[in-house]
Amino acid sequence: MAKVKRVGMLTGGGDAPGLNGVIRAVTMRCTEEYGMEIVGLKRGWKSLLAPEADTLMPLGVDDVRYILQEGGTILGSSRTNPYKNEGDPEKVVRQLEEFGIDALVAIGGDDTLGVAKRLHEDFGVQVIGCPKTIDNDLSATDTTFGFDTAVSIATDAIDKLRTTAKSHERVVVVEIMGRNAGWITWGAGIASAANVTLIPEVEPDLDEIASIFERRAANGEKWGLVAVSEGVTLSDDLTTQNAEKDEFGHVRLGGIAETLAKEIETRTGIETRHVVLGHLQRGGTPTAYDRILSTRYGLRAAEAVNNGEWGKMVALRGSEIVTVSLDEAVAENKTVPKDLYEAARTFFG
Ligand code: F6P
Repeated sequence: MAKVKRVGMLTGGGDAPGLNGVIRAVTMRCTEEYGMEIVGLKRGWKSLLAPEADTLMPLGVDDVRYILQEGGTILGSSRTNPYKNEGDPEKVVRQLEEFGIDALVAIGGDDTLGVAKRLHEDFGVQVIGCPKTIDNDLSATDTTFGFDTAVSIATDAIDKLRTTAKSHERVVVVEIMGRNAGWITWGAGIASAANVTLIPEVEPDLDEIASIFERRAANGEKWGLVAVSEGVTLSDDLTTQNAEKDEFGHVRLGGIAETLAKEIETRTGIETRHVVLGHLQRGGTPTAYDRILSTRYGLRAAEAVNNGEWGKMVALRGSEIVTVSLDEAVAENKTVPKDLYEAARTFFG
């Protein structure tokens, strides 16, 4: 196996707190321990399809030493899909050659990793994947970094909303990210003791929700909190999604909290407001857990580059960081099992 000299690294898809932890660990181990050169590729796959003057970002220890606690990604990101248009995958491969990059670390969710898998299979690109998403919906790994931070932010937000909801005798419906997986909402709903938690995996029952708040009001508690995933849908005539799609064909979600708040108010007569947490859930500093997990992923990804484990992704299994095939990594989405949701239901009311 020819020795890897120049490693490219990119971050794709929505950012997640902890990305800089991976970038730091890959850079430090690859340069210090393996004597490789690391170049950041700015703006995800766009860096290889439409490079700009600042696309290449040489990375050394001094560039990354203090970025662990910074949210976002110093490499920037995009939702560019090189498999959308014919001829683009070949462009990506040519660009990698032009940049003299002989191995690639792709940090992303199922979209970014799906592209990495195809580039490896179709053209033999020497790639290692690293899982990232606040949504926690990748089945090949126990958890992804960014998720713990997102749950903490949503929990903190619901805790704050409780005091004002109580003071004004209102119900507040809080819309939480996660696409079609309810993990963040499930976690924040339990941790914040929300009165109702709704996830996309289980169809909501509007009559049941209304009766919960009516019962509470009858007991003198004319207020409450609903944690609802952005991917929850109601009946067809209650619109909850925008028709706009990204390059990977995902609909932009949003609107469920507003629709649900109106329904609750109409059915119960209790004033009901809604709050969309949106990108606040991806911003700011990563939790200690996410800093540690992303560091462990990065160290193992660097090792995988050194070992030539091409077409693999680093993953957490139990307490170990292992590598799994990219095939397995993108095979299926991980959603919240019914029994876990039932556990949250114990605390409804
Ligand atoms: O996949 C992460 C995520 O934050 C989802 O929870 C959310 O639906 C989506 O990204 C939002 O994407 P964007 O930042 O492109 O609006």
